[in-house]
Formats: sequence, C-alpha cells, structure tokens
Amino acid sequence: MCGIVGYVGEKSAAKILLNGLEKLEYRGYDSAGITVHNGKNLCICKKSGRLKNLEDALLETPLDGKTGIGHTRWATHGAPNAKNSHPHTSMNGKIAVVHNGIIENYDELRMDLIQKGYIFSSETDTEVIPHLINHHYRLNGGNFLCAVKATVTALVGSFALAIICEDHPETLIAVRKDSPLIIGLGCNENFVASDIPAILSETKEVLLLDDKEIAVITKTNVSISDFEGNPINRDVHHVTFTENAAQKDGYEHFMLKEIHEQPRAIAGTLRGRLNLCEPVKFDGLDGETLKNINKIQIIACGTAYHAGLVGKVAIERLAKIPVTIDLASEYRYNQPLTDNKTLVIAISQSGETADTLAGMRLARSLGAKTIAITNVVGSTVSREADGVFYTYAGPEISVASTKAYTTQLVALYLFALFMAETLGNTPQEELDIIKSELANAPEIFSRALVSEEKIEDLSKKICNERDMYYLGRGLDYAVAMEGSLKLKEISYIHSETYAGGELKHGPIALIEENTVVIAISCDDSLCGKMESNIKEVVTRGAFVVLLANDTTKLSHSSYNELISVPETLPLLTPLASIAALQLLSYYVAKNLGYDIDKPRNLAKSVTVE
Ligand code: AGP
Repeated sequence: MCGIVGYVGEKSAAKILLNGLEKLEYRGYDSAGITVHNGKNLCICKKSGRLKNLEDALLETPLDGKTGIGHTRWATHGAPNAKNSHPHTSMNGKIAVVHNGIIENYDELRMDLIQKGYIFSSETDTEVIPHLINHHYRLNGGNFLCAVKATVTALVGSFALAIICEDHPETLIAVRKDSPLIIGLGCNENFVASDIPAILSETKEVLLLDDKEIAVITKTNVSISDFEGNPINRDVHHVTFTENAAQKDGYEHFMLKEIHEQPRAIAGTLRGRLNLCEPVKFDGLDGETLKNINKIQIIACGTAYHAGLVGKVAIERLAKIPVTIDLASEYRYNQPLTDNKTLVIAISQSGETADTLAGMRLARSLGAKTIAITNVVGSTVSREADGVFYTYAGPEISVASTKAYTTQLVALYLFALFMAETLGNTPQEELDIIKSELANAPEIFSRALVSEEKIEDLSKKICNERDMYYLGRGLDYAVAMEGSLKLKEISYIHSETYAGGELKHGPIALIEENTVVIAISCDDSLCGKMESNIKEVVTRGAFVVLLANDTTKLSHSSYNELISVPETLPLLTPLASIAALQLLSYYVAKNLGYDIDKPRNLAKSVTVE
C-alpha cells in the first residue's frame, strides 16, 4: 500500500525522504515522488515505476531544501503513472500533499472545485485535497492550519496526509483519519511516516497520531490537536525493535529471513504468558468477561483467517464453546448474529486491514466485546478493540506473511488455554500436557526447518507446474489452505486446497498424469483416511509430495516425495507442518526468479476495502 515520509529539520530533506521511502518499498507501490521546499518555492519530482527511477532523476536534477514530503503510490484511482503519483499540488503550486487512503466524496468535491475554476491535472481522488486547502487558505487569510482543518472536515473516507505550503518553509502538517501515521522526534528535526521502519534509522522516539488528529510540526516543536481544535497531549512511544530487525540480515529475501526468525518470534509471543504451573495469561481479557459470553466469532483476512481456522478448532476443543470464523469482508455484510454475549476476535498482523477493522467496528456496535490479535503496537485495531493481545513477532516486511501466521497460531492456542482454564471445561492434566508442549514450540519449529535443503531440491522438480493441489483433513486442511495461499502469492502458480473427503465430490476430475498434489497427513487420528485419499490421486497418476510426521503408518506407494514433519501433539501440528510449506513456496518462487518480497498486485497492508 502507499507509503508516506515527511521531514523538517536542518539536513537535506530529499536524502532523508528517499531513504525513508526505500524502507517502505515493501508495502508495494507503482510510482514515487517527493516535494522539497527550497526556501522560496516547492520543487517536485515524480516518477512511475521503481524508486530507482526517482533516485536517478534526482541525481540529474537535485532538489535542495530542508523541508519536504515523499510518497510511494499504489494505484487506486487513476493509472499508475507520474501524473497520478504524489505529491499533488494546488494549481498555484503553493500547497503540496501526499495521501494514503481513499477520499470517498472526491467526485462531489471535484465538481464543486471545477465550478469554482480549479483545473485538475490528475485522475486521482487525492488531488481535491491540495485544491481545497488552497481554497480555504485564501478564505482564511493565509492561515495554513485553519485551511487544513476546514479541508479535512469536508473529506469523507480514510486519509493520512502530510502537507507543506510555500509560505511556511519550516512547517509540515500531518493529519490522520483511518489510515496510520506517526511522528518521529529528533534533535532540531522531526519526521512523519506511515510506518515506523521508514524513520527508524533517524529516531526511535515516536508519537502515534490517533484518528481525527492534526499535528503541526516544525524542527523544534510538535503540536497535536483534534479536528475541533482541542489540544492533545501525547506520550512519546519508544520503539523497541532495531533498524537491523527491519533489514535482511544477510538473507537473500525478507521472506526467508522471516521464515527463519519464527522460533524467536514464537518465543516472543509466549514470553510472560505461558509459565508452567501458573494459569495462562492472555492480555486484554479478564476471566469475568469470558464467563459472560456464550459464543466466539473470529474475523480476519488472508493468512490471518487461516490462523483463525486453527484457532476455532483449538478453542472449541479446549474451552468447549462454539466458535464461528468468517472472512472479515463477508462478516461485515452478512448481518451477523453478534450480540452482547459474543466475543469477537479480530486477527490482523498489520492491525490496519480495512475489512477487519470494519468488521470489528460492526461487532462493537452490536454490543460484542472485541479483542484484537495484532503484531503492530499502536495500530488501529489495537486501539479500537476492548482488549489487545500483541504477538510481538517483530516487523514483518515480506508481503507474504510467515512469522505473523505462526505467532497468531500461538496467540490463539494461548487464548484457548486461557479460556479453558477460566471455564474449567477440560481437565487441568490435559491442559498441562498441551502447555508444556506449547512451551517447546520454538524448538519444534526449529526442527521443522531442518528439511530446508531437501525442500529446495524438490522445488526445482515442481517449479514449472501450472497447477498444484493441496490436500488435508482437520487441522492439516487448515494448514494446507495457508500453504496454497503462500504458493499463489509469490510464485503465481495456480493452486487449490481440498479437504481429503471432498475429493471424490468433484475435484478429483482435475487429477491427471503428473499433477502435483501436496498432501499433509500429520494428524494421527486421520492418517488412515488421508492415505485412502492419497491413493485415489496416486491411482490417477498424481505426483504426490507427502508431509507427515509418522511415516511408519504410511505405505511407500502413497507418495513420490516425503518431507518429514517433527512429531508433536495433534492440536499443535500446524506449528510443525507450516514451515515446510512456507519454504516450498519460497524456493519455487526463487527458482522462477520472481520478486519474492514484493509480489505483483499485492500490498503488505490492505487499508482499502
Ligand atoms: C499474507 O501472506 C497475505 N499477504 C495477506 O493474505 C494478509 O494476511 C491479509 O491481507 C491480512 O493482513 P493483516 O493480517 O495485516 O490483516
């Protein structure tokens, strides 16, 4: 998704903006631009394509100045070209704006401005903003802040904005509504960014803007107020992760680094929450709240939804309370049966996914208690939920989620245990066995990574396939869905997932000689059933890659390639089997030479519907 960086200080703004935009590349973008105040005028440079194009243009024609704003754009309204890229300026070139989000009433505002004589030069929704600010600037006798306030109150939609004005060379204005924005604090310099990694090399002290807040930023001062003009005091938040944590650490891609980081990330999620001999702690929820609810609804998108599928099974098995799981984009329009006896769990790595956020807001309006499971401290879901559980996986840069998934699984296992201990529906001895195995999860995951070389070799054999099929039953089916999504996202190979028992109800028609089938059979109790399903595809000539933890129960004729998965308790097998699927999709995409961390058409955080 789009990225914003802003700077006001004593250094070269262009250099800092470019550096920050580079750190935001992972969000996905198709064009980039910066505007710098040179002391007299606003100077602009925009290019379509990679940031490198902008860098080259700036080498040829440098922009000097100590105040500026920059943006990487991911097209929503208007084609991805230089004309539509940000910053956008007012007709007289006095006001420049970068924007993340969507202005829903832009058509209406645009018509109104055109009638007033404004001429538009792009197809974007954003361009109404600089024109409108300029309009109010004139009406308010050159008061920059008043002009911005008047403008943002007229906007409908979501927006994070960084704005500069020709008449105010040392001022930057930042606005947030439904799209994240932070302010970085420095010495004789301050920053604005849509995401912490953008400014982490410059500062670790940040102010998190809340919805409907405006900040006026100079190099020595930041003053925040709400849209009504009431001043706001915000505590400084100290960022605990290092810049290194947001870099590749010698791995070829962020995705591979993040796959290998999982044992550490899982340990981070468990820390302080799971101590054997003590009840499990689940931040953001008290036992009394749990006793008053009669059902749980999980909402999430993509990988987070797949984690939720496992969570449903864990919660139902241990806490014995009914759980439904919905894609957040479906939940919000399905007239859900949510009430004040419902607990809604919203899972979102970024904490900014528009559908998950909207689903959570709907749940709250229906009287439900909400809890957010998220990785991003200060994210919108974390601030709007009644309670928040942070996964503490560290920043996830690769668009394809890996450590976010496993840490979400751990969070859901902790929740299931916490609830089971609170309600007392499962004998404590049973829970203790699960607790002590969950405490070993980092070690279990490390053992799963041992198959990496074998998986890399296997990936060479199958990377030129056009289609692949994933099969599983029970929890293996849920994991298969995540494995298939990973493959699609980064290797662009068509893949589908079927529950083993569904095969003969249609999908088996797709199996022909050499069709690749990835079969997961880690649940002991379903092993026999899976073997029959695997035989059904073997008979039709499929090339079967089998993931299993106890191969003694399977005959050799039921696979072509075997990847062994470490043994663990049936309920925890997703933590052991997902590693192989993540590695397989990574190496398949690598063999094909794709841009693994920035797959086509995808963005890290989907802040629009
Ligand atoms: C994961 O690999 C995907 N990039 C995507 O499905 C992602 O999980 C989804 O967009 C939800 O994001 P969130 O967890 O930040 O809400």
